[in-house]
Amino acid sequence: MRLGDHTLSSNLFLSPLAGYTNLPMRLTLRELGGLGWATTDLVNARSLLERNRTALKLVETGPGDQPLSVQLFGSEPGEMREAAVLCQELGVQGIDINMGCPVRKVTRIGGGSAMMTELDKTARLVRGMVDAVRIPVTAKMRLGWDEENFTAPDLVRALEDAGVAAVFIHGRTRAQGFSGTVNLAGIRAVVRAARSIPVIGNGDVTTPGAARHMIDETGCAGVSVGRGAFYDPWIFRRTARYLETGVLPPEPDFAERLRVMRLHFGRYCDFYGEAHGARLFRKVAPWYARRFGPAKDFNQRMLTIGSRAAFEEALAGYLAWRRQFCDDAGELLPRYEPAPLAASFLPGATGGAAPAAIPVPKGPVEVW
Ligand SMILES: Cc1cc2nc3c(=O)[nH]c(=O)nc-3n(C[C@H](O)[C@H](O)[C@H](O)COP(=O)(O)O)c2cc1C
Repeated sequence: MRLGDHTLSSNLFLSPLAGYTNLPMRLTLRELGGLGWATTDLVNARSLLERNRTALKLVETGPGDQPLSVQLFGSEPGEMREAAVLCQELGVQGIDINMGCPVRKVTRIGGGSAMMTELDKTARLVRGMVDAVRIPVTAKMRLGWDEENFTAPDLVRALEDAGVAAVFIHGRTRAQGFSGTVNLAGIRAVVRAARSIPVIGNGDVTTPGAARHMIDETGCAGVSVGRGAFYDPWIFRRTARYLETGVLPPEPDFAERLRVMRLHFGRYCDFYGEAHGARLFRKVAPWYARRFGPAKDFNQRMLTIGSRAAFEEALAGYLAWRRQFCDDAGELLPRYEPAPLAASFLPGATGGAAPAAIPVPKGPVEVW
């Protein structure tokens, strides 16, 4: 598929996940293959313009991290426009506008989901950004504020007129938070509302089959994966292959999971410095562990890592502990295998299945 002037290697996208979709994670995912386009964590436009250190770290990129889009949030048209220009100067391939974030610090200044209630104002802000840069500007949103304000189809039309190159739609309302089922009919309505720009579906895609189902049911041009990439960093490669051939590649084995987790950890240390990187990785490691089988011991050990050596030591301790759940060849006994992942919208899944299967980390992101 195409996005602006770019021809993408696949129609699979990485959703922004604040606190996670940093350079180390993106490089790790890209190396595994199948990922067509990635987006940074959301970045406050004003902080970026003020050259705030945290904001600059969020937009840090490097060789092997293309194509990349920076997700901006803010409501002041001048700031959003200038921040978009700055991102273009940094050399990224696209700008994404956060319109789906109902976190108070965003909505109280009129950004995030509040934007969806003010179509004209939003279209003007977007137009200003589109006119100021050569790279494509995209928008990410939910279906609407709540059931009564299902505004995404109207917003998509307004945004298309304002010049956005694509829209990402998380198939839930802001009021839904992360509960209930992703609404495929709602995504389909957004796809139909767009005249010619691609609409990318998002929400609870945890398996190649779920991606196929979302595309088939909604007509979306591509799929964006957030939390599914935590569990299965191979999801892009496996899904790309599945969409192309209809053959479902197997899930990676335990040794491959460890290999990739080590790479990811090493990049955290390189990027943030060893002590800080190791501390930050404490919240990443448990995501890998969700596909390890029994992992209580692993999660406990990871809580205190503060260096490369401590990480390796914790891992060695965990591997010794894990042997009790394995056969003589060191393979996990079938009864300890983790349950298969399911998407909330796949036939047979109950409405509440996906949020339980894909927990949202604690904090304000619970309602994104
Ligand atoms: C920890 C976390 C952080 C998130 N950060 C952002 C963000 O910075 N910007 C954004 O637009 N959405 C954010 N989201 C929402 C995701 O991009 C995505 O729309 C949502 O998780 C549904 O997709 P998924 O089921 O594939 O995760 C975040 C979600 C989570 C769980």
